[in-house]
Amino acid sequence: MFTLNKRLKEVVGLDIGSYSIKIASILKEPDKPLLTAYNVKQIPSYGGQAVKEGKLIKEAFSEVGINPSEVNISLSGSNVIVRFISLPKMTKDQLENAMIFEAERYIPFNINEVILDFIIIDDAEEGQMNVLLAAAKRDFVQARIELFQKLGININIIDVSAFAAFNAFTSFNPVPGDKGTAFLDLGHSETNVLVTTGNIPRFMRVIQIGGDDITRAIAEDMGIDRQAAEELRVSDGSENREKVDRSVFAVLDELAEEMRLSFGYFENKHNTTVSNVYCSGGMISQKGLVEYLQEKMGTGFNVWNPVSGVNVSESIPGETIDAVSAQLAVSIGLALRG
Ligand SMILES: Nc1ncnc2c1ncn2[C@@H]1O[C@H](COP(=O)(O)OP(=O)(O)OP(=O)(O)O)[C@@H](O)[C@H]1O
Ligand SMILES: [Mg+2]
Repeated sequence: MFTLNKRLKEVVGLDIGSYSIKIASILKEPDKPLLTAYNVKQIPSYGGQAVKEGKLIKEAFSEVGINPSEVNISLSGSNVIVRFISLPKMTKDQLENAMIFEAERYIPFNINEVILDFIIIDDAEEGQMNVLLAAAKRDFVQARIELFQKLGININIIDVSAFAAFNAFTSFNPVPGDKGTAFLDLGHSETNVLVTTGNIPRFMRVIQIGGDDITRAIAEDMGIDRQAAEELRVSDGSENREKVDRSVFAVLDELAEEMRLSFGYFENKHNTTVSNVYCSGGMISQKGLVEYLQEKMGTGFNVWNPVSGVNVSESIPGETIDAVSAQLAVSIGLALRG
């Protein structure tokens, strides 16, 4: 007997953040991908130590009843450097050879200490082409591989976090090609910024400002400990709202300033404006944050829901996923890499 139905395979995306571990398991179905499991597991006491031991990762999987043999993961922050460069037109093979000698000009690391990847993006003017160069620190990647080996899990794809979130967006939404569109993933210790024209990435940067900076600012300004500051920050309608907002907005002013620099760089280089911003990440749950950034930046800020493009398995209650869907952009984008 012939088996015509090849067993459909679930792909698991795992996003290890500084505040939480996010898991998305996706089954590619003919009409729409199906989210079969997800988890957002908070890392206790901001430590990260347990993550290194893999214990939390295992727990995060077993809590939602999955035991993957393979995952897609991502890198961000100081562990990866992304550069957009312009080079004379050449083939992918020629580029590969050229990069052996040239990459060091573009990245601030010893070439032996990194793993390089590059993509020819498109043609540029006068016989030039645009190339995206990504360099990941070899030590860090090696440590991640060993961690997963201990857990009996293969790493299938290693992506860059900002590109993974963008992949979740473009899998279901069009992006205008004539203007710049920015994607922000606002996390706990960093904000990933990716500016694109249409589906083509043009600029990427990680700004080292996130939810943790807001908590720290509240704690310092009000003379309270971190725990109390975090509670104040997420609570609605507290009597200290005005004071809290002052600390929150001071951090957002810094973030807006960094974004302005980033957008300005893109706008100069590509001769077009950033006309729309799409936000994801846990920090956007902060009351008033998106509105404040929009006002400061004078650009349209939108919150997008990374879960809206997939069907959610009936076994997952809709209301619980709504509370964390903004945090799932990277993990869903990774799971959609297939
Ligand atoms: N309801 C809420 N109100 C305010 N802040 C919130 C809320 N929910 C989550 N956050 C904040 O969002 C941040 C966590 O977001 P997220 O899970 O995206 O971070 P992360 O991916 O672990 O961090 P990073 O990517 O920076 O390493 C924390 O700072 C947390 O306090
Ligand atoms: Mg994150």
